[in-house]
Amino acid sequence: MTGIIIRNQTDADLAAVLTLVTAAYRGLPHASGTEPFIMDALWTSGGAVVALVAEDGTGLVGQGAFSVAHIFGKGTGWHVLGPLAVRPDRQRRGVGSALIRAGFDRLRAKGSAGCIVAGDPAYYQRFGFRRVPDLHVPGIPDPYVMALPFDDTLPSGAVDFHEAFAATEPVSN
Ligand SMILES: CC(C)(COP(=O)(O)OP(=O)(O)OC[C@H]1O[C@@H](n2cnc3c(N)ncnc32)[C@H](O)[C@@H]1OP(=O)(O)O)[C@@H](O)C(=O)NCCC(=O)NCCS
Repeated sequence: MTGIIIRNQTDADLAAVLTLVTAAYRGLPHASGTEPFIMDALWTSGGAVVALVAEDGTGLVGQGAFSVAHIFGKGTGWHVLGPLAVRPDRQRRGVGSALIRAGFDRLRAKGSAGCIVAGDPAYYQRFGFRRVPDLHVPGIPDPYVMALPFDDTLPSGAVDFHEAFAATEPVSN
């Protein structure tokens, strides 16, 4: 991770962020192909409570976004991690981990109750994400739905992601 800085995303980063997200998710079995549209819609709508980029001398090498989780059940003040993407030629060097940990710091500073993610447990458990029995995201198999509380309260119920997650086409120019 030498020579890499993590900073807040700006409007000027958007085009490069979308290129990066497209490249990172391209061809992956778990990818929907809509990830750049989701990031575009999250950013453009102001739905990204925290949006971070990782940068080195070659430009952007990673990005991670956090948005509000609407929980129909128990739990307020929760956030959702995603999209999270590292440029293919910079993966497995700790960039994704650094983005997640920096995001947690910012969420904690904003009084967040914790973070929810839909993703591969083999990757996310190392950060403390765990399966919570009564937590569900419609359309996503339960084993991929995990939560990390910032205090000792766990959420339960159905989680609705930000409406940007339904985006199927670009919204910015
Ligand atoms: C997933 C992703 C963000 C991880 O970022 P990264 O910078 O490569 O990850 P880090 O260097 O912080 O962590 C590397 C570790 O994670 C593991 N890892 C990386 N991607 C993984 C995955 N998809 N599943 C399981 N483990 C994974 C590596 O094996 C490595 O483990 P090790 O340290 O025990 O060898 C990056 O690989 C990426 O952009 N992937 C494509 C987009 C994607 O799948 N995003 C997440 C969707 S939920």
